[in-house]
Amino acid sequence: MSTFTEETRLRAREIIARYPADRSRSALLPLLHLVQSEEGYVSPAGVEFCAEVLGLNKAQVGAVATFYTMYKRKPTGEYLVSVCTNTMCDVLGGQKVYDALAEHLGVGHEETTADGKITLEHAECLAACDYGPVMTVNYDFFDNVEPQGALDVVEELRAGGRPMPTRGARLCTLKEMAVQLAGFADERDGAVADGGPGEPSLRGLRLAEQHGVSVPGFDPKTPIRSKAEADRAAAEAKAKAEAAKPAPAPEPAKAAEQVLPEAATGSTAPDVKAPDAKSPQVRTAETRQPDAATAVPDAPGTKIPVDGPPPVPRDAQAAEAAGTAANPPAGDGKPAGDAAGAQERNLKEAEAGTGADGADPADANGSGVRK
Ligand code: FES
Repeated sequence: MSTFTEETRLRAREIIARYPADRSRSALLPLLHLVQSEEGYVSPAGVEFCAEVLGLNKAQVGAVATFYTMYKRKPTGEYLVSVCTNTMCDVLGGQKVYDALAEHLGVGHEETTADGKITLEHAECLAACDYGPVMTVNYDFFDNVEPQGALDVVEELRAGGRPMPTRGARLCTLKEMAVQLAGFADERDGAVADGGPGEPSLRGLRLAEQHGVSVPGFDPKTPIRSKAEADRAAAEAKAKAEAAKPAPAPEPAKAAEQVLPEAATGSTAPDVKAPDAKSPQVRTAETRQPDAATAVPDAPGTKIPVDGPPPVPRDAQAAEAAGTAANPPAGDGKPAGDAAGAQERNLKEAEAGTGADGADPADANGSGVRK
């Protein structure tokens, strides 16, 4: 087992506890970001860590980690510079930006400069076509970028500066960004309030304002608060509500209410509760309110049911007990259905650096046969 820091382990527990008890496998994506935040990429040790805490095997984790481009499979620079060379950006000059950077930095796709500062990559549409050509640094945007502007940005980064992106929060390192992608707040002072949306993104809002279309009660100037600010505001609101609570009714009035409730409320209708449309699983998840100290009920050895028809609403506790009874962990601590031979082979390949690290997503069942 790899040696990740205690902080990473606590965060892993917090991530897993965010999900319903029989859905802990859903924590895999943020967990992969978490291990990337410590090592700078998803190493074989990171794959092993995720597999162990979720009760999966390494081939299953490797299949996911190799599918998404945001999980890096080899050490990556402090700043990941992604240049969109997809159709819209390419037409607008994206390839010229990429070529200029590749020549200036002396690196190609997914290669890192010798000083370990910059990794360059092609990107396939960064979902900002209206700002093309675009480049991101650790997923923060530089819009309408030109070759010289891109070179200026990387030179400032290599000199130790942190240029402001066109939109969004100030730049951080790739490891710091991975912490945020794992679902933890950016705690730098004022980071959440940095930057603002670009005009093309606000076009719909402007048109709505122009035509008098609005959502009742919504103020578009509502600031986005950091977690600390939101917590403080919630505590203040709670204290205010407590202070505004009416004093308890004097005893005689209480007695009158008990004798004639309809006279007190003005209604003779029976007290009917509104139907609860949420499923018991959602209710259970909502009431867990986990933190780092919350026990993880189902890892390792969790077996997750495959997708099927939506569950019939049941009492939350009965549903959880039935789920546990129907999904006992396999005797070897691995999910049922994985042949022991295949697991052994996955293990050897991962240790040799050819398995989980180079796992083939088409061979996620460990059979050795591509689908
Ligand atoms: S084509 Fe470049 S952001 Fe969409």
